[in-house]
Amino acid sequence: MKIIHLTAECYPVAKVGGLGDVVDSLAKTQQQKGEDVQVVLPYYSTPFTSENEFVILYHGQVQLGQFNFPFTVCKERDNSLGFELILISIPDLFDRDAIYGYEDDIERFMSFQKAFLQWINSLDTQPDIIHCHDHHTALVPFMMYNGIEFNKIRDLPTVLTIHNALYQGQFGFDKLHYFPTYDLSKTNLLEWGGRINSIAVGLRSARVITTVSPTYLNEINEHGYGLEHLFREVRYKSKGILNGIDDVLWNPATDPVIAATYNYENFDIGKSINKEKLCEMYNFDVNKPLISFIGRLFEEKGADLLCDFIKKIQQENADKFNILILGTGNKAIEQELMALLIDYQRFYKCFIGFNENLAHQIYAGSDFLLMPSRTESCGLNQMYAYRYGSIPIVRRTGGLKDTVTDSMENGLGICFEKAEVEDIEVAIERAILLFENKIQLHTIRKAGMQLDHSWNKAYQEYLKIYNLITK
Ligand code: GLC
Repeated sequence: MKIIHLTAECYPVAKVGGLGDVVDSLAKTQQQKGEDVQVVLPYYSTPFTSENEFVILYHGQVQLGQFNFPFTVCKERDNSLGFELILISIPDLFDRDAIYGYEDDIERFMSFQKAFLQWINSLDTQPDIIHCHDHHTALVPFMMYNGIEFNKIRDLPTVLTIHNALYQGQFGFDKLHYFPTYDLSKTNLLEWGGRINSIAVGLRSARVITTVSPTYLNEINEHGYGLEHLFREVRYKSKGILNGIDDVLWNPATDPVIAATYNYENFDIGKSINKEKLCEMYNFDVNKPLISFIGRLFEEKGADLLCDFIKKIQQENADKFNILILGTGNKAIEQELMALLIDYQRFYKCFIGFNENLAHQIYAGSDFLLMPSRTESCGLNQMYAYRYGSIPIVRRTGGLKDTVTDSMENGLGICFEKAEVEDIEVAIERAILLFENKIQLHTIRKAGMQLDHSWNKAYQEYLKIYNLITK
């Protein structure tokens, strides 16, 4: 089956969060299992694009109101990622340092989607499935099914996967003329709350909707950031499919960037070497439990709660553990985390920035990984933590609920209910107790390392959906 993934991120080309990891590893798995897979994203200036060679496949122009943007579609020459990587270069819009966060993001991703459709429409052989990810690509099904100029691709089956319903790509009707010419009786498909809402458009137009965990699907039917009614309306064509992880890339037995490799049979020594190295780097006492946080520093991830938690730690508890934070995101949270170093660095350190190698080292060297997310559609870090023998401490939400069960319920993690400092405190106290119980700690770690978080199951579930809509 010929599958095209359309996305704003794909590791290692461009990654901000879990979306990049998921598209890369899902595409790789599908290709390995015999599908014919292409991943299409914008050509950003990233280290990957400057270090690799590309072959030009197509030249075109996108019209956006009065502006005209020339673009080229190119493919990575060596197929180094294990699937075909296609980048759409629109120099005026994407030749910049960051992936998102510009005032013209709507114009950028609208142009990207239109360029994609123009290119696909020009091909002699069409893909079997177009799989869109998040709001940056969610207008594609609508434009494809209704745009007059895309007559050749009118019937292609589409899937839209929601990785994060919080970001919806909304804009005013003053930009309606950005759309390709379409049957105007369909304008009602665009509107939500008086504006054009890319996720709403995608929910109505795509043949199938998926979320990245079953619990998240249930949650957004209740609290869907304003879209809950619509999520319920399209429930009949929606499914929650839990993400997997790339278990080759995230494997402590072969990981080239950690201090010592290890597996579930010999992890005691391996993990202690990694912990020593990490504690040496951050000047921590290796005998105390090391609790880490890795992720985007936003309120949805509960990153602000980390600041409040650190400030509240009492003297007696401050001597019982160490906490390490790696991440980047909201500037106010970043600044507060930096400022806290002044008073609390005895037990707390942070690295503000994006550092993939350090992330591997932290999973390997930590005892626990804290995820106090307010919302988490799937979450991958708890699965990386398990793989590296670190125990996840998670708020019971979304995919965290689907992947982590509490040790008091025969599970292999520590769970709490509310995204509040009090709940985090209780969870950390439980982690400290667990750390002292060396036998239980060992048992839980070992079992956690043996959990299967591969893509096999999700691969089958996506395939079932693809088959259903290609017939
Ligand atoms: C987003 C979500 C995260 C999920 C990831 C991959 O980053 O916030 O929970 O794991 O997408 O689907």
